[in-house]
Amino acid sequence: MPNRGASHRAFVGCIEPRMNPSTPNPSTGELTERIAATISAAGGVIPFSRYMAMALYEPGLGYYERSPRTVGRDGDFATSVSVGTLFGELLAYWIREAVGALPGLASGPIDLVEAGAHDGRWAEDIMDALELAEGDEQRRFRYRIVEPSALRRSWQLERLARFGDRVSWSDTMPDEIRGVILSNELLDAFPVERWRWNASGRCWVEQGVAWCGGRFEWAPMTTPSPPEWILPGALEEVLPDGFVRERSPAAVAWWGAASAALREGCLIAFDYGLETEEFLTPARASGTLRAYHRHRVSDDLLSMPGELDLTAHVDFSAVAEEGLRHGLSTWHRERQSRFLMRILEAIQRTPGRFPEWTPSRVRAFQTLTHPEHFGRGFRVLVQGRGPFSCGS
Ligand SMILES: C[S@@+](CC[C@H](N)C(=O)[O-])C[C@H]1O[C@@H](n2cnc3c(N)ncnc32)[C@H](O)[C@@H]1O
Repeated sequence: MPNRGASHRAFVGCIEPRMNPSTPNPSTGELTERIAATISAAGGVIPFSRYMAMALYEPGLGYYERSPRTVGRDGDFATSVSVGTLFGELLAYWIREAVGALPGLASGPIDLVEAGAHDGRWAEDIMDALELAEGDEQRRFRYRIVEPSALRRSWQLERLARFGDRVSWSDTMPDEIRGVILSNELLDAFPVERWRWNASGRCWVEQGVAWCGGRFEWAPMTTPSPPEWILPGALEEVLPDGFVRERSPAAVAWWGAASAALREGCLIAFDYGLETEEFLTPARASGTLRAYHRHRVSDDLLSMPGELDLTAHVDFSAVAEEGLRHGLSTWHRERQSRFLMRILEAIQRTPGRFPEWTPSRVRAFQTLTHPEHFGRGFRVLVQGRGPFSCGS
């Protein structure tokens, strides 16, 4: 099943036929009008990050505000969660065996705090796996979903009702967390800024969005270049005019807030992304921002707001730097396949503590780790308080 990490590689340079804009969903028209009015009120141009925030999250109209069925086989893209229950089962094993054994978490309740839970499927898989493995012991684990959207919370409530008060919700990150803050494909879903290199002016120019002749168009803004993007002289000389790069202060700020809330334990994020220097290569000259619709990728980023998923690669260096700034240390920063492989090795060393490897679990493991599926483009970042003192 195609996924966005794989599609980024498989489709680079290949432009899908434009989706038919003559049959828009009625709410697309309403959202278009609302974004156009926002642009007009702002004097003619808004930053792309504002456009993306409205296209994805405008209440009742944005892409993630309309249906839980955007993720998975019948939706627009697959995630590790939508591959099946195995991803949650592997993570539950790691939480029990590695995180649960940390000296600071050896006794007392352990918080599992998820953000970006969408329809609650990962939470269900993790809770089911903990319940099966631990019986009463799993009652140490309290699952909390951080969900700012009332609609998405209703999808999650429906799926997770059977866990009773062992699952709870909040709009914002709790103040103090002892346990694990987890996310899958959350960081890539934060609105990004889009910048274009001006070779003659030797500066980055922020790309805004204007409403011209009944359609959205790119328009340059006058924001100063991000200070952290000052390039070494040699690179400035060779970077081609028009080179595009995205920046996600919202994702970095989210990681900072989560780091600040963590008292004991760790943050873990799975996503597709790169280290900072990997963005500045010829293969990434048009940036990593893409639009997804029914398992196809489009470079037409400004059409059909609310109908397309918009997403960009995570800058793992910037995110990890923020965690370090908040006093965390990095426990794992590697490909998802490597991390899951290590969990598998630990499972094999402790027979009887993981469900049977049925053919469907074996197939799911291959999908999660194979380079052509989730194995190559997807990475994991784990940062925690104090040094990591567990085996796996
Ligand atoms: C790409 S989907 C991933 C869904 C799910 N985690 C999975 O792996 O199948 C990203 C999800 O993050 C949610 N999201 C975006 N920003 C969020 C935030 N600040 N807090 C909580 N959820 C957020 C979106 O609404 C969407 O449901």
